[in-house]
Amino acid sequence: MTPTATQNHHVVGVTDFGGPDQLGVHEVPAPLPGPGEVRIRVAAAAVSPTDTHLRAGTYGTYGTQPPYVPGMDAAGVVDAVGEDVPWQVGQRLMAIALPTGQPGGAYVQHLVGPWESMTVVPDSVSLAQAATVPMNGLTALQALALLDLAPGSTLAVTGAAGTLGTYLVSLARAAGLVVVADAAAKDRELVMSLRPDHVVERGPDVAQAIRELFPDGVDGLVDGSVQGEQIVPALRDGGRLATVRFWEGPDERGIQTFPVRVRDEYLAQDRLQQLAAYAEDGTLPLKVAAELPYTEAAEAHRMLEAGGVRGRIVLTF
Ligand SMILES: NC(=O)c1ccc[n+]([C@@H]2O[C@H](COP(=O)([O-])OP(=O)(O)OC[C@H]3O[C@@H](n4cnc5c(N)ncnc54)[C@H](OP(=O)(O)O)[C@@H]3O)[C@@H](O)[C@H]2O)c1
Repeated sequence: MTPTATQNHHVVGVTDFGGPDQLGVHEVPAPLPGPGEVRIRVAAAAVSPTDTHLRAGTYGTYGTQPPYVPGMDAAGVVDAVGEDVPWQVGQRLMAIALPTGQPGGAYVQHLVGPWESMTVVPDSVSLAQAATVPMNGLTALQALALLDLAPGSTLAVTGAAGTLGTYLVSLARAAGLVVVADAAAKDRELVMSLRPDHVVERGPDVAQAIRELFPDGVDGLVDGSVQGEQIVPALRDGGRLATVRFWEGPDERGIQTFPVRVRDEYLAQDRLQQLAAYAEDGTLPLKVAAELPYTEAAEAHRMLEAGGVRGRIVLTF
């Protein structure tokens, strides 16, 4: 059936910022793709920390109208295309979405976006698995590109048991870096399965543990656990730090800081394609923690905020 402007669809979002129970299902007109755009019938959307921040009001109204719809990743099947796009109706695609911009977040039955914000899902990857890839995969690639470490350099990754940390450890190993990952005792086996060169105990003393392995400090560090100042002593003089919540970093010992902003990757189709290849060949370990129907988005947010989720929760549409 050709989509028409009169069709409605469901989105999950908030009209008032607050706790998980503010999330509700709203019926709104389904978007149609314009030139250069594609629409997917979403099968799965990932639930990430940034979604809970958006729901709570951390980012404000960002100049858009309610309902404010979270979600930066989706995967589904193309059901409508605009002019001049390489994708076709019926293809399975994964997409990064921009909840704080146009065309909006991914907790939707139909997601429209520029064709460059999407790529083909390999046959061996399920749509639920694919939904876990774009946002954190692009973040990991951006962090590694910003750090720009030569093969053989040392890289520490904190929050290694999380989705971003998992992708970082895996991609850094593939890039020939010597990787130190942190883990709680209960996550040690999980983190070891990513095959980092070293695993250290996570927590407030993580920098000291890294220094015990590398007395001069590591060349680079990605602060996936958002520990800020606590992790800085792990870096060598002149080391390179990637931060994930816009921290500009310390002013000491010549350390250079690179705040990572995944929204800058919105049209990075080449990197998305690279991630699809890594998902297919197993370089990226894909882990879906749970699949919940979109009507249970509030429960998904509660689960994520409780901590301890390993792998990504996805909402199914
Ligand atoms: N700037 C950007 O563009 C961008 C893009 C993507 C992600 N991010 C941010 O990157 C961070 C990681 O994202 P994610 O999706 O990987 O989240 P996640 O899956 O929730 O992973 C975070 C990991 O850090 C662990 N952790 C929390 N506090 C810790 C501490 N003090 N010491 C060691 N580990 C700790 C968590 O463990 P528990 O579950 O046990 O708490 C979890 O394993 C989030 O803050 C996210 O907002 C930023």
